[in-house]
Amino acid sequence: MLDGKKSLFSGMQATGTLHIGNYLGALKNWVELENEYETFYCVVDMHSITVRQDPAELRRKARSLLTLYIAAGLNPEKNCIYYQSHVSAHAELAWILNCFTYMGELNRMTQFKDKAAKNEGNINAGLFTYPVLMAADILLFQSDIVPVGDDQKQHIELTRDVAQRFNAIYGDVFTIPEPYIKKTGARIMSLQEPTKKMSKSDDNPNASVFLLDDTDTIIRKFKRAVTDSGNEIRYAEEKPGISNLIEIYSVATGKSIPEIEKEFDGKGYGEFKIAVGEAVAAMLKPVQDRYNELCNDKEYIDNVIKTNAEKASYYANKTLRKVQKKVGFPEKIR
Ligand code: TRP
Repeated sequence: MLDGKKSLFSGMQATGTLHIGNYLGALKNWVELENEYETFYCVVDMHSITVRQDPAELRRKARSLLTLYIAAGLNPEKNCIYYQSHVSAHAELAWILNCFTYMGELNRMTQFKDKAAKNEGNINAGLFTYPVLMAADILLFQSDIVPVGDDQKQHIELTRDVAQRFNAIYGDVFTIPEPYIKKTGARIMSLQEPTKKMSKSDDNPNASVFLLDDTDTIIRKFKRAVTDSGNEIRYAEEKPGISNLIEIYSVATGKSIPEIEKEFDGKGYGEFKIAVGEAVAAMLKPVQDRYNELCNDKEYIDNVIKTNAEKASYYANKTLRKVQKKVGFPEKIR
């Protein structure tokens, strides 16, 4: 809770590229949360350097992601969209929480195990304490809900444990956050392996449609989408490929599944795939147009970056000061 309003925090890495799964399954649905919650969407560049990054590339991708969030419909006057590295309270609270998190807890994190296996030459302490920085992100804003994918649930559990441990010692300092995993809303699968979720870290670019893909690329990816044997456009469990395309077409056009089955009755996969590609391209067009417009308005984006970092700092520092006092740091002389 912040100033009597429920609050929401979500962090995103700038290293992957947003795809239609992120858009339809998350981003697009977040727009409607801005009235009910005080929202924070943070580009977590401090998390990104737990694996080696090219500095220029990281800066470019971070700005692109921040811009894309606005282009996708999040109004930056109502939603606080900012860079983690611009708000030093993240690092300061992370240090304190490090002292309330056990090695054994961090050792159990499956994402650490996965990433350590992938980065054998650089298993640094930051990679190990990554979830503690994430806990700091969330707890700084007294977040009630945290929209995340399934893969982040373990980190939210840890955040809750650490917050409860801290509260048990010092009184009610932190709001205990809940993961917000929307049951309804589209679950978009890979175009190449339709039993797997579309993923930012997929090495095959044909598996995902990215928000900034041009029309030709989008149509080509749908044409190449893996489909099932048979030739009927029908939603069924044993037809994961076609069912995924039907689902995507449904959210892109607003048509229901029975309507779609009827529309394509007697038509082949080829024709259907092109229709899906065109519908998705049409759905993304306004987002892309807005993105390009925003990229040309450096002053506007710079201003968002500045004012939103100030807003985030205001709330974050309030929590940080409380925590510093609780653990026994001396008050600053002003
Ligand atoms: N670890 C998250 C991911 O990789 C990103 C993240 C960082 C995050 N801090 C967060 C997500 C706080 C939710 C809340 O997706």
